[in-house]
Amino acid sequence: MRIEGKWIWSWVLVAVVVAMVITNWKTNSNHSEDTHKQLACTGEEAANKPSKVLEKNSSFKPKPYKYQLRDASRDGTGKIYMGREISQFMCHTGINWLERAEREREENPKRAVQGLQLAENAVVADIGSGSGYYAFRLAQLVPTGKVIGVDIQSEMVDFLNNKAKELGIENVESHLGKIDDVQLPGTSIDAAIMVDAYHEFSHPNEMMQSIYHALKPGGVIYLLEYRAEDPGVPIKPLHKMTQAQAIKEMKVIGLKHIRTDDFLPWQHFMVFKKPQ
Ligand SMILES: C[S@@+](CC[C@H](N)C(=O)[O-])C[C@H]1O[C@@H](n2cnc3c(N)ncnc32)[C@H](O)[C@@H]1O
Repeated sequence: MRIEGKWIWSWVLVAVVVAMVITNWKTNSNHSEDTHKQLACTGEEAANKPSKVLEKNSSFKPKPYKYQLRDASRDGTGKIYMGREISQFMCHTGINWLERAEREREENPKRAVQGLQLAENAVVADIGSGSGYYAFRLAQLVPTGKVIGVDIQSEMVDFLNNKAKELGIENVESHLGKIDDVQLPGTSIDAAIMVDAYHEFSHPNEMMQSIYHALKPGGVIYLLEYRAEDPGVPIKPLHKMTQAQAIKEMKVIGLKHIRTDDFLPWQHFMVFKKPQ
């Protein structure tokens, strides 16, 4: 009897330890996952608001791409582009999350901005600019140029405009794009940067066609995405991207991969170029 009792207590102890390990693992791995889920915009309502700023004097229209459809996975849209399920996009209600203090440690934005090679008078589009977290940081690099913060949510655009006024920054302006067209004039930008945004584009192919159109020959794309190859990056799978996937998706648009730097804690820093 005494031996059986001992065994029972041993098994209870093992069960408690296993339960604790599982709970702890779930808490850690879901940290960013739950945050993303709460912040996702599920419908296309917000995204379909009409654009206030349209490209003038241009007949350019992105060619529609045929995406595959399947049942949406958690946090996904069920829309497949080149083997990848497109994620839901982040709602403007998540502005505080974009502006969170921990981002300095998680993303090292200062280092990211140092990696950009821009002339002082360059015109740069920050596409999917959200609250302008990166737009305002990179504005210092182009004192005689400008940063155009492009987003599809008018609330994001309003936030960026208000912040520019508040900070007295004059070389950051906003632009409300469409979900399938950045709607910037042809050959009007020297560079485009997309941070944690491209994987959320509901029409990545059309968006990239329009960005390609807006870039000057030799113009550069900086694509920053959470590293999917690294299981240590605590971000939901659909909000991460492998380097190989990104290169494949840019190549189909005609963009040349120049290099990928991995000097950031969680993100790939990928550089692409439009041919001269
Ligand atoms: C996760 S937030 C990242 C914001 C910002 N780049 C940052 O790092 O703080 C992604 C943003 O992309 C925007 N977005 C989604 N699809 C877009 C599109 N087709 N064109 C422009 N912006 C888009 C969303 O509205 C959202 O503000």
